[in-house]
Amino acid sequence: MIRLDKYIADTLVCTRSEASALIRAGRVCLDGVTVKKGDVRFDEKKCTVAVDGKTAGYKEFIYIMMNKPAGVVSATDDVREKTVLSLLPEKYMTKELFPVGRLDKDTVGLIILTNDGKNAHRLLSPKHHVEKEYYVECDVEFADSDIDTCLKGVMMDGDRTKPCVLKICENDRKCAHMILTEGKYHEIKRLCGHMGKNVTFLERVRFGSLLLDGELQRGEWRELSEEEISMLG
Ligand code: URA
Repeated sequence: MIRLDKYIADTLVCTRSEASALIRAGRVCLDGVTVKKGDVRFDEKKCTVAVDGKTAGYKEFIYIMMNKPAGVVSATDDVREKTVLSLLPEKYMTKELFPVGRLDKDTVGLIILTNDGKNAHRLLSPKHHVEKEYYVECDVEFADSDIDTCLKGVMMDGDRTKPCVLKICENDRKCAHMILTEGKYHEIKRLCGHMGKNVTFLERVRFGSLLLDGELQRGEWRELSEEEISMLG
């Protein structure tokens, strides 16, 4: 059972008071009947809600894909630095969003923001083997032997890193794709460092089976569909 004003605020991504105003204005129907009280409770699995005549299926959680630009930090708040959350419009500020895992300040590309803590935890846990793919450019060419090094793992923070798939680009061996299923601090940069290279550019291009949307410019974002959310892993 859920309150109508909460249902509307979650589904339309607005504040409770904005939802209440919509309800009071008679723009919300519950199973075909106009309801003007926000505190009405109903079963969101059985009832149909419509706003201005359009069915509004319940959306409990928000998932956003952002193409992170360089120069912003992937934290919820930071006193000195600009954060990924600050790139979103005001209406998301009350929704308790946070980034699913961290990208370094100079790393660009696919970052997911959500308020679904349980699923975020699962997506990040190495136990669940959710792949994160990065495109990396280094100052030195990759050697074929690096493929084995990444697969076998290196010692990091007192642990061996989980197998990392390294795919060296054929046309430029200073570039590669690296696939991780865990997220140790600076893992790609430290793996490359171990192989005698400095990372000069790093972009996350895939999370689970969800690819970075090529239509999104750096700093742009969009909400994910239900199907895309299930592609995360
Ligand atoms: N590995 C890194 O070194 N940096 C990132 O931002 C992500 C993975």
